[in-house]
Amino acid sequence: MHHFTHYTPTKVIFGKNTQFQTASAIQEFGGSKVFIVYGGGSVVRSGLLAQITKNLEEHGLEYYVKGGVKPNPRLSFAREAVKESIAFGTDFVLGVGGGSVLDTAKAIAHGTANPEIDIWRFWSKELPIEKSLPIGAVLTISAAGSETSDSAVLTNTETGRKCGTTTDLNRPKFAIMNPELTYTLPIYQIGCGICDIMMHTLDRYFTPTKGNQLTDEIAEGLLRTVIANGRTAMQHPSDYDAMSEIMWAGSLSHNGLTGLGAEKDFAVHQLGHELSAMFDIAHGATLTAVWSAWAHYVYEEHPERFAQYARKVWGIREEEDEKAALAGIEATVDYFRSLDMPVKFSDLAIGIQPVEVLERLADSCSYDRSRTIGSFKKCDRDAIFEIYKMANC
Ligand code: NZQ
Ligand code: ZN
Repeated sequence: MHHFTHYTPTKVIFGKNTQFQTASAIQEFGGSKVFIVYGGGSVVRSGLLAQITKNLEEHGLEYYVKGGVKPNPRLSFAREAVKESIAFGTDFVLGVGGGSVLDTAKAIAHGTANPEIDIWRFWSKELPIEKSLPIGAVLTISAAGSETSDSAVLTNTETGRKCGTTTDLNRPKFAIMNPELTYTLPIYQIGCGICDIMMHTLDRYFTPTKGNQLTDEIAEGLLRTVIANGRTAMQHPSDYDAMSEIMWAGSLSHNGLTGLGAEKDFAVHQLGHELSAMFDIAHGATLTAVWSAWAHYVYEEHPERFAQYARKVWGIREEEDEKAALAGIEATVDYFRSLDMPVKFSDLAIGIQPVEVLERLADSCSYDRSRTIGSFKKCDRDAIFEIYKMANC
């Protein structure tokens, strides 16, 4: 067992009708003037937003509502919201939606608490975030894990960069998680979410660190659970048990638990972020589109690790590590396909890209050759280019 710090302070309020506990949860964490942020309108159409504002009114809480967060949330929107939040005198920020909304809520909280600082300076790592406002989450899609995670991802359309910032101040005070709120999701978003959840654990599981038995068992169990319930959810999006398992897995997969004591990899996320930044593709789809290429590029570094994954997660009975590793990769890719997720560029609406585009993606992902990504196998700019080339078919 390796050294680690595990800090997951978010109070999880899970189950049917839990959205009616929003106001009391805000009060528990000292909120009185609440800035509510939501996305493109699904929460208006479902009636969730009205339920929440009524709940706040019944508890005498003042609130301000701002909608319009887009998937792959924009810095420009967050900046505008920060101004409105400062003018309102916000003391608590509530995100009602998915990862895009919650990440924007985090940005609004940081910006409001630091009115003299442009928030991009936090995302560009120029400045550390030293103070913020409390954040609450009402989750409507199981995917990003932002409801308990320490990260927040924004896209700066001026520079074409999508990146995250990591701090414990990103951890929401509470997360309201009612699986029934996910019943209205389009099937495509359910698939994207399942794959993103898997990827938060896979990007931790494929690590050079050895000897973490309990963490491995947790990761493998989580993956098996998501895979099985993912199949049910795609067929029956109103299956409470399946949606519950996926929702809880979404939080556990990205709160740090499935990679405790091990070095993280996260190369696939970095590769995917470039595709979102350039083409505005849904996050989960960017990950599955490059995973097969990444896995084939790196598995020879530690075939025994891929073989363990194949045996423990996919039940593959193959004694030779090399063969088991490849069978595990194939099983994963087949599963993504079964969810109608892209596994290469030609499955995406963008199609096969010219080599200049791959060069630009590789330059940007390597920060113009100034960083490598991943730890399982460190990938420099040329390796990144090679992986994009393998996915470009
Ligand atoms: O905007 P609305 O109208 O709400 O529609 C959304 C959006 O179109 C829709 N949706 C969400 N809940 C719904 C629903 N539609 C019907 N019924 C519901 N109950 O789903 C679409 C996608 O929403 P989004 O919030 O973008 O999805 P997701 O949760 O997958 O978040 C993706 C974002 O999170 C970032 C991603 O990069 C991406 O920007 N991530 C954040 C992380 C974090 N903070 O820890 C980690 C992740 O790795 C990820 O990078
Ligand atoms: Zn993700």
